[in-house]
Amino acid sequence: MSEFTKSSTASTGDSSKDDSKLSLTEQARLAKIQEAVLRARLLREKKDTSSHKFWDTQPVARDALQDDISKQLEAATIKDEKKTTGYIKEQTVEEIRKEPYPLPAGFEWCVLDVNNEEQLDMMYNLLNRNYVEDDDNMFRFDYSRDFLKWAVCPPGYKVDLHLAVRAQKTGKLFGVITAIPQAMIVDGVKVEMVEINFLCVHKKLRSKRLAPVLIKEITRRVNLTGVFSAVYTAGVVLPGSIGCARYYHRSIQFKKLVEVGFTRVPNNQTMATAVKLNRVPAQPITKGFRAMEERDVVGAHKLLMDYLVSFKVYPALTVDEFRHWILPKDKVVNSYVSTSADGTVENLCSFYHLPSSCVKHPTHSHIYAAYSYYNVATTVPLKQLMNDCLGQAKAEGQDVFNALNVMENDKFLHDLRFGMGDGNLNYYLYNWHSPDVQPEEIGLVLL
Ligand SMILES: CC(C)(COP(=O)(O)OP(=O)(O)OC[C@H]1O[C@@H](n2cnc3c(N)ncnc32)[C@H](O)[C@@H]1OP(=O)(O)O)[C@@H](O)C(=O)NCCC(=O)NCCS
Repeated sequence: MSEFTKSSTASTGDSSKDDSKLSLTEQARLAKIQEAVLRARLLREKKDTSSHKFWDTQPVARDALQDDISKQLEAATIKDEKKTTGYIKEQTVEEIRKEPYPLPAGFEWCVLDVNNEEQLDMMYNLLNRNYVEDDDNMFRFDYSRDFLKWAVCPPGYKVDLHLAVRAQKTGKLFGVITAIPQAMIVDGVKVEMVEINFLCVHKKLRSKRLAPVLIKEITRRVNLTGVFSAVYTAGVVLPGSIGCARYYHRSIQFKKLVEVGFTRVPNNQTMATAVKLNRVPAQPITKGFRAMEERDVVGAHKLLMDYLVSFKVYPALTVDEFRHWILPKDKVVNSYVSTSADGTVENLCSFYHLPSSCVKHPTHSHIYAAYSYYNVATTVPLKQLMNDCLGQAKAEGQDVFNALNVMENDKFLHDLRFGMGDGNLNYYLYNWHSPDVQPEEIGLVLL
């Protein structure tokens, strides 16, 4: 899942207040200092040693247990592979509990077939009213129905893993969690995993320990398919984090973002200056830049996988999975390529659409946000490709373009006037031990 973050007051592309007056060297120095402060903060947060009634019982890496785990790994699990990665707890399907975990009286398990409009509506409505909000409860993610279908139905998906809790009497949904299959490469080792997403408990049932039951039940179901590890992201700090990234925001419709309270006009700028500074190119500069098509799939897949191999954590996408995730889908995902004369895909950029409801605003119902997805530039600077991508996001009606500081995104964030968001996104592995990774070592974007 994504974490909802807003432009922080400390530094935003929009509040590039003094930045425009600084020399390039000074700007780079400022960016480095901000990064160092952020890293120190993340380290402190990661060292959070508070007790977790549920998570302390789960096979996830904890700082306190790190030594034990390393010893176990050296002693047993992977002798011929790298010793930094492996299962934390070895299990077989036979050992897995056959019965579902019990729910509180009045509730029952069900699965959601999102290809059934009524069931898709139920999932959409639960999330639309109860899913992730920013710290000030001004915005709430509003994943569209088409997006949800796309997100939970990649090749090989199982309806049994679109899990929900409903009231026995009324059938009303009170909780949801999903798992989709995705092999991952972690520190050079391929692992069959699932991606966990859309964990949500109805506001009326919060703090009653329903989330741990949802997590245990999805884990049981996944384990019964012979998969024992998972990857997920969350804004909150929990045991099992392997790395932490930061969201950055690039205003596109600056005035609207100020009106809804997503960002503010920097002290030393007028609205007009800020609007001007946040202009994006009307036409792409990259020669041959165009929307990706079916004929590009095989070449673009190769381009991406050859690129991702340099990261410590990334998805081992098959061609079919790549086609599902990257080929354009209206108001869900956009992707663009440019090719050589013989049709070889040389550059690829993409973003997905995740609007948020403006919970309290009298006139603006939504902020339309594009989220940077997978980008590879081989014949033009990444900055140029992403600037073209910003232009396309605007043409697609987006108000803001968000990007994590993963992969090589640092190469364009500052120069393209992205500003740091006010929250982190932690990356987690369940039952797979991994060395800690820096944001620039992460080659994975979860929805
Ligand atoms: C996240 C959410 C499902 C947790 O439910 P809750 O009713 O607040 O908490 P519960 O009493 O059921 O469970 C608490 C346990 O869940 C854990 N938990 C909370 N948020 C979690 C998350 N995002 N991922 C995994 N575990 C989480 C807590 O750490 C706690 O376990 P611990 O005692 O070991 O620390 C709920 O707050 C919610 O729906 N929030 C809005 C949507 C959201 O943020 N989803 C998560 C996206 S990553």
